[in-house]
Amino acid sequence: MKGKKIILGVSGSIAAYKSALLIRLLVKAGAEVQVIMTGSAKDFITPLTLSTLSKRPVLSDYFDPASGTWHNHVELGLWADCPDCCTACKYTCKMANGICDNLLLAVYLSARCPVFIAPAMDLDMLKHPSTQRNLDTLKKDGVNVIAPVDGELASGLIGEGRMEEPEKILSTLDLFFAGNLPLKGKMVLVTAGPTHEAIDPVRFIGNRSSGKMGFAIAEEAARNGAEVVLISGPTSLSTKQPNIRRILVESTEEMHRACLQESKKADLLIMAAAVADFRPDHIEESKIKKKNNSLQLSLVPTTDILSDLGKIKPAKQLLVGFALETDDETENAKIKISKKNLDFIILNSLRDQGAGFGHDTNKISILGKDGTVADYPLKSKQLVATDIINFLIPALKK
Ligand code: CTP
Repeated sequence: MKGKKIILGVSGSIAAYKSALLIRLLVKAGAEVQVIMTGSAKDFITPLTLSTLSKRPVLSDYFDPASGTWHNHVELGLWADCPDCCTACKYTCKMANGICDNLLLAVYLSARCPVFIAPAMDLDMLKHPSTQRNLDTLKKDGVNVIAPVDGELASGLIGEGRMEEPEKILSTLDLFFAGNLPLKGKMVLVTAGPTHEAIDPVRFIGNRSSGKMGFAIAEEAARNGAEVVLISGPTSLSTKQPNIRRILVESTEEMHRACLQESKKADLLIMAAAVADFRPDHIEESKIKKKNNSLQLSLVPTTDILSDLGKIKPAKQLLVGFALETDDETENAKIKISKKNLDFIILNSLRDQGAGFGHDTNKISILGKDGTVADYPLKSKQLVATDIINFLIPALKK
């Protein structure tokens, strides 16, 4: 952190008190910290506390009448190596929607450097679909979200919403600046989206997968420093991070070929694609004409890509599958772990409201081959991707 220029934005939240501890840690680590407080942040903690700790006057407004100084947001945005923002719900919403009604938001819009936010809010506010949408938007805009953690909240409720501890925020920034991201040097292969199995030149058998879950996982792995290969079936999605190489495929056979070719060097494989289980036994060369009142298609099984990867898995490689189940979910997922030689399986049940295909949210459990089960609440697919990658990082180090 030595010599790094950090703008620390503080907005109105009870968690604003943590910004004092964060400044102390940043300054001790050798960073220069410029604090920008919003008006309501000052109701929670005094500018004097933060200016004393940061050894710089705290900025709040564009114009300081006392000194006659104009605080140029563009200059501030360019000054920083990294703006970090401790945000409340309102700020997440404003940042996601490009609202620019104070100095802090103007600096955010002017910044060319990486941006981190560490939101804090009550658990129901965090769970609200609009907050989840805003966090998704921020992630898509390239903002690094330091996810709120579980615990006792200022309201007395218990759940997710606490701002991450300052020590953890510091180590996240430290890793970022050191280029020492947890997946640096690792290669991660992700599959995503549906497959299309051709019937004739104009028709295919497909499924409702949007690819959102797999794309979010690829982005999260890339954000953590991995070189990512994303093999995706037909989707309208695009990728953001420069360290994602995308391979477009259509059918299961094409995905199978690409996976075999790319998997050898991978440290981690996450198979989120909704691969077709059956395909037509042959593809008609010409468009099938409507001659009769009925049409019979003869289907044959596709290759099980995940099973094949399980058979050739090198000792140190982690292989992670997905299971979308409707009945006996845990039992069926466990069977898939052993049948396909997986290290982990990510289970989502179609019986959980808001989970699976066509939703922006998902509710997962991660089951390990050693019998461990980690359950997560319903979240946006972006935040589910963060949980998945955070869960797998320690497993990769073993
Ligand atoms: N999978 C695969 N190749 C296939 C079918 C599935 O690689 N031909 C992968 C999926 O990407 C997923 C996992 O296998 O990671 C489980 O997929 P799922 O459809 O839940 O299970 P199946 O093995 O197809 O079994 P079933 O449909 O009977 O539940």
